[in-house]
Amino acid sequence: SNPSLLILPGDGIGPEVMDQVVRVIDWFGAKRDMPFDVSTDLVGGAAYDAHGTPLHDDTMAKALQVDAVLLGAVGGPKYDDLDFSVKPERGLLRLRKEMDLFSNLRPAQCFDALADFSSLKKDIVAGLDIMIVRELTSGVYFGEPRGIFEEGNERVGINTQRYTEGEIERAARSAFDLAMKRSKKLCSMEKANVMESGILWREVVTRVGQDYPEVELSHMYADNGAMQLVRAPKQFDVIVTDNLFGDILSDCAAMLTGSLGMLPSASLGAPMENGRARAMYEPVHGSAPDIAGQGKANPIACMLSFAMALRYSFDHGDEATRLENAIEKVLADGARTADLMGPEGGTALSTTEMGDVILA
Ligand code: NAI
Ligand code: MG
Repeated sequence: SNPSLLILPGDGIGPEVMDQVVRVIDWFGAKRDMPFDVSTDLVGGAAYDAHGTPLHDDTMAKALQVDAVLLGAVGGPKYDDLDFSVKPERGLLRLRKEMDLFSNLRPAQCFDALADFSSLKKDIVAGLDIMIVRELTSGVYFGEPRGIFEEGNERVGINTQRYTEGEIERAARSAFDLAMKRSKKLCSMEKANVMESGILWREVVTRVGQDYPEVELSHMYADNGAMQLVRAPKQFDVIVTDNLFGDILSDCAAMLTGSLGMLPSASLGAPMENGRARAMYEPVHGSAPDIAGQGKANPIACMLSFAMALRYSFDHGDEATRLENAIEKVLADGARTADLMGPEGGTALSTTEMGDVILA
């Protein structure tokens, strides 16, 4: 049967950028004989408006059946005052939790044509292509005890960094698997100098590495890693790290490359019956209420997220590269959405026009 995709466009610019991805999916079906079974459903505020919940149980069930979920973005001012239990982002959190998406892949890729957008010097970032693998379901954001407690005559805020060997191992494996598909270089970041969880992290990653003799494994303290990411990011290929360090390092790495409208992501879980990992792909950006409905959102982050799906869920790395090359080419030719306009000005393409030139 055809590979299956659940598309959840969501709110704000989510549906606008997703429309362009749907055109690309149709193109692969028609021109490359790669048909996908696509179903589309509501998530976030759109689902709340229709069903009073940001993720209907039927949608959740579908997400657990398909090969991959593609999500646009959720949220917007209309939903800001809702009770937390029905807020749009709860839909996203439920998907992550029930699909057990423990490995978050955040590439930082700098297209040469956009190197001027980086806050760093052009030669430091031009051609940059690295991937941060962040453990997503454990660590200090989830560890117990947590809370604000009375202690003597003052309060104390407590979070607990907690990692089991199993949690470290599965995150490490997903990073090694990824390194095998890339340049076979992996750098693990923790703070084994001051944290027990860091000592265990380093030990388990090293052990998992014995199953991947071809991968060149290195270790770095995360604070040095932050410095190195800004000083000389091209020394890295794949970086694996925990939830907290990964949150910070991936945001830092993302900004090496310029616009939020360019950044894709993937979240992977445990293997399903067919051996593929459960997966959700989404742009890093949100629903951008400030530009929603104006047809000027940059669809590239969402399109690059689909390229990641082609590569990591559907074993079509060659076709992923085809799509990425098309994007690289139009950027080199000067195609720009409004968010990519430099001070020199020019004419910005609409969301659909950017889709047009990439398809062409
Ligand atoms: P945002 O990412 O939506 O927007 C930040 C800025 O970047 C805005 O000026 C926006 O116009 C611009 N921008 C973002 N994506 C763009 C694109 N594709 N093309 C051109 N410009 C783009 O973040 P913000 O404003 O903090 O949040 C807005 C809403 O989105 C909130 O409700 C927030 O909760 C939600 N959100 C949802 C996320 C998700 O669905 N994964 C992630 C982040 C925020
Ligand atoms: Mg963050």
